[in-house]
Amino acid sequence: AKEQYHEFVIRETTVKRLCKSQNIMTVNGQFPGPTLEIKEGDSLIINLINRGRYNVTLHWHGVRQRRTGWSDGPEYVTQCPVRPGQSYRYRFTVAAQEGTLWWHAHSSWLRATVYGALLIRPRDATSYPFHVHPTRELAPILLGEWWDMNPVDVVRAATRTGAAPNISDALTVNAQPGDLYSCSSHDTALFPVTSGETNLLRFINAALNTELFVSLAGHNMTVVAADASYTKPYTTSLLLLAPGQTTDVLVTFDQPPGRYYLAARAYASAQGVPFDNTTTTAIFDYGAANNASSTAIAMPTLPAFNDTAAATAFTTSLRGLRKAELPSRVDESLFFTVGVGLFNCTNTTAQQCGGPNGTRFAASINNVSFVLPSSTSILQAHHHGAPGGVFTADFPASPPVVLQGTNIFAGENHPIHLHGYDFYILAEGLGNFDAGADTAKFNMEDPPMRNTVGVPVNGWAVIRFVADNPGVWLMHCHLDVHITWGLAMAFLVDDGVGELQSLEAPPPDLPLC
Ligand code: C2O
Repeated sequence: AKEQYHEFVIRETTVKRLCKSQNIMTVNGQFPGPTLEIKEGDSLIINLINRGRYNVTLHWHGVRQRRTGWSDGPEYVTQCPVRPGQSYRYRFTVAAQEGTLWWHAHSSWLRATVYGALLIRPRDATSYPFHVHPTRELAPILLGEWWDMNPVDVVRAATRTGAAPNISDALTVNAQPGDLYSCSSHDTALFPVTSGETNLLRFINAALNTELFVSLAGHNMTVVAADASYTKPYTTSLLLLAPGQTTDVLVTFDQPPGRYYLAARAYASAQGVPFDNTTTTAIFDYGAANNASSTAIAMPTLPAFNDTAAATAFTTSLRGLRKAELPSRVDESLFFTVGVGLFNCTNTTAQQCGGPNGTRFAASINNVSFVLPSSTSILQAHHHGAPGGVFTADFPASPPVVLQGTNIFAGENHPIHLHGYDFYILAEGLGNFDAGADTAKFNMEDPPMRNTVGVPVNGWAVIRFVADNPGVWLMHCHLDVHITWGLAMAFLVDDGVGELQSLEAPPPDLPLC
């Protein structure tokens, strides 16, 4: 196993999208940010140097961070933010995970532009559990969202007024809206392919607030991994990725030579909630063999934004490749309700109330809106044995967990992401979870393992994991608009030694608040 060192310099960079120039935060001037390519078992040291104008932290989404919680990244949870002019080294090893993960800023809405891919290939002398020629891997496909306005200002304005933040102005593939948007055609992401070859494609949904249906005209895709865990091969013409999720697929380019659109569009599922209903495209081009520029580009058919049947058909078809390793014992069952609504300010903690009639948008887990500390991080406070005032609720231990969505204001899917762990998704369904009937539906054989589960609109999902990684681990909705409203909580996983003394001491360069 090797150790890689990288410098990630956060700085302001001018880019032009949708005919307008904007100064955005980037890593090393790249948008999307640099791709990290490692082999399973390798270690990474990433030196974050903040030359931007905002506080920032980085999170390695899906990396299990076994006993390396100081490098997990969510601001005020495992560290204080890195201020402009400061730096911080993230150090961690990526073990027992293969496939596609990614990294992103975990401060305000900076992840709109500060994100990139993390590719984990099998270590030497091992191989993928599927056949693909090593050279036949396309560049990662990062789906994202673009605002004409600085995304930090978008969320600040919303917090001030208590209203919902503006929806994005474009969806993107590799930071390009694509040629269905005005003045974007020259920069459409292009993937050259070769007739007859099978390629490995890696999709990442880095969008802030939008679940995405994805389809490639004329071609089927065979899913082989999701969230850096292998799946049984599942062949489909449609993918669904919630923000935070990744999907690896094999595609055989066996169609008549030509150009084919890859298209992505929202799965919104909600009634009455505004969302970005535009379509982003990239072009898969069979290349020189045909006179591409003169031929029309084939467009895939995508389901309607509220096609829950299509969404469910995809998510319930994924199976783990190997038999699940589930201990027979369940120590603790937890039931969370997650919801978003318009709350009366007098009843809630937290943010300013500028909404209509003394209301504000809020989201909660078990009716508590999560409020981040500001004077320290939860992990630091706990490590020092001084949690007073930093967190108050009880943090329970070893679950299978039921996540139940409720509908106060508008039903929406909630992609719930857990830091520090992968979990098995034992079952999911619509309506209210019924402990009797629904327990019989648990897949104990080959459930998919993921780090982010799309809890269906007004529905539920049951996840299960062994709480064997001491630390403070955030669990939150990966729709950033809902984190803004408090749809988060943290697991404090004790190590039995008290105050997490089995973790290494905080690194000397850990930022202070
Ligand atoms: Cu991808 Cu807490 O995030």
